Amino acid sequence: METIPTTSYDRPAEPCELIPKDYFAELTVSDYFENDAPLEVDLGCGDGSFLLEMAQHHPERNFIGVERLLGRVRKVCRKADRLGLTNLKVLRLESLYTLEWLLPAESVSRLHLLCPDPWPKAKHHKRRLFQEPFLKAVSRTLIPGGEFLFKTDHPEYFEWSEEHLSDYPALERLDWPEDAFFYPKTDFQIQWEAEGKTLQGLRSRKPA
Ligand SMILES: C[S@@+](CC[C@H](N)C(=O)[O-])C[C@H]1O[C@@H](n2cnc3c(N)ncnc32)[C@H](O)[C@@H]1O
Repeated sequence: METIPTTSYDRPAEPCELIPKDYFAELTVSDYFENDAPLEVDLGCGDGSFLLEMAQHHPERNFIGVERLLGRVRKVCRKADRLGLTNLKVLRLESLYTLEWLLPAESVSRLHLLCPDPWPKAKHHKRRLFQEPFLKAVSRTLIPGGEFLFKTDHPEYFEWSEEHLSDYPALERLDWPEDAFFYPKTDFQIQWEAEGKTLQGLRSRKPA
């Protein structure tokens, strides 16, 4: 008798899911895409609205979403497959591990970290992604001239991030005017703006 999957864990991977051949070796990114187009990575992509819009708007670029929750990974993949996107893959993995160990050095043209958990309690600040080991991994992974883009609705986390960025000279801060380039809103951004919150953004670049 055929077994009916009951949870997303029982189901086979969706075509757009990026399953590394070896989780302990650097990815050969070109194995997973049809071409060597510039690569953008969205860390903690959630339900993926931002990523899906970016991939549709920029067919000349490749995109990887990194997300630790399998249900969200599968949801984004199903949407991407329905849209026929061949320039988008989703990787179920932890963001820092992905930057430190899986992505090759100087392989990413833009990295996005949008609306991450601000861990508001002081005793949890050490769990925040935006600190020195993360910035080191960002800088390792970006190509020269590559950009790192960050947004948060949490004013104190924004200040924390500004301070950590200014203490990290391997990334230089850039202006980020609203109309600088196409940059769709994320699911959380839409939700938070509807609640009257405002987001602040940081744009930085690894010097060329
Ligand atoms: C607050 S949501 C934001 C999602 C999306 N970026 C947006 O703005 O709509 C944070 C997402 O990051 C994922 N996440 C949190 N920490 C992570 C980590 N260390 N590695 C990978 N994913 C992570 C969560 O599962 C969640 O989907």
